[in-house]
Amino acid sequence: MPTPPSVSAVRHNRTVDAQPLDWQNLGFNYIKTDLRYLSHWRDGAWDDGTLTEDNQLHISEGSTALHYGQQCFEGLKAYRAQDGSISLFRPDQNAARMQRSCARLLMPAVPTDKFIEACRQVVLANERFVPPYGTGGALYLRPYVIGVGDNIGVRSASEFIFGVFCIPVGAYFKGGLTPTNFMVSSYDRAAPNGTGAAKVGGNYAASLLANHEAKARHFADCIYLDPATHTKIEEVGAANFFAITRDGRRFVTPKSPSILESITKYSLLDIARDRLGLDVEEGDVYIDQLDQYSEAGACGTAAVITPIGGIQHGDHYHVFYSETDVGPVTRALYDELIGIQFGDRPAPDGWLV
Ligand code: COI
Repeated sequence: MPTPPSVSAVRHNRTVDAQPLDWQNLGFNYIKTDLRYLSHWRDGAWDDGTLTEDNQLHISEGSTALHYGQQCFEGLKAYRAQDGSISLFRPDQNAARMQRSCARLLMPAVPTDKFIEACRQVVLANERFVPPYGTGGALYLRPYVIGVGDNIGVRSASEFIFGVFCIPVGAYFKGGLTPTNFMVSSYDRAAPNGTGAAKVGGNYAASLLANHEAKARHFADCIYLDPATHTKIEEVGAANFFAITRDGRRFVTPKSPSILESITKYSLLDIARDRLGLDVEEGDVYIDQLDQYSEAGACGTAAVITPIGGIQHGDHYHVFYSETDVGPVTRALYDELIGIQFGDRPAPDGWLV
């Protein structure tokens, strides 16, 4: 475990001339922040890693990440509380998920301590980019592992880079907590026993055309059905799906080996059960039985909770609670989740670091 640099050592550099940011309207866009973390795996071990001003990677043209998609990534956020302190939300869960993604793509795991320490250094080094409390914005961290080095055969790389950079972000879907409409895609984002559960770029590359076509039809994104039978909802664009049964008593979210295991989704399962007193279920949500549900939403680190207004499936358009108003359970889940993340409501043990 490398010795963490002191706070003053990582807080000093202003390496970019940041234009004054419109904290209320950040959206979800890349901007260059001051420093990012890079660590290299060579000869069977990760080095200590360092912060760097350079936001360009210099890698071999033979890197497996470029040709064979040997890479994975994570997304987590740092939140500023009312007292000015900054917390990461459940970074141990992101570390664990990245370890599973690395195992699936035959890449070396980043130990949890190293992962959290890298995130901590990046947040401290870019503290001026953490949006003020009350704006709704957060600092989004993007950790990744990529296979690099001279290679051309279809085999695992012999060298890897673990990096973490950050950007200040607001709402991922335009409007934030506003009902948003989606359409069911005829494309699959993942195969039944493929890499759907791993956070690997290939899944997202496979979603680009579907997303493009949905936007061309004025939907925010698409809904993916299960790749084996095309009868059950799996995911909403780059986010997970949940629904509330008509009696308002049950929180249901799909379970499948081809779904990315959203940390927000698992947090909402706990919140729904422990704070809202709902029954919770990971099970099947059939696309032709949406009448069973009064509310539905997309959830994820980037999406937070985005209420689903309506879903277009073939010729049929299904409206949940409303296309303009947010349902009461969705709102309660949202208030509790962001209340925890911004330090306004008590966090379960270990959720804020
Ligand atoms: C996240 O919610 O962090 C994601 O990874 C979605 C992202 C691909 C925009």
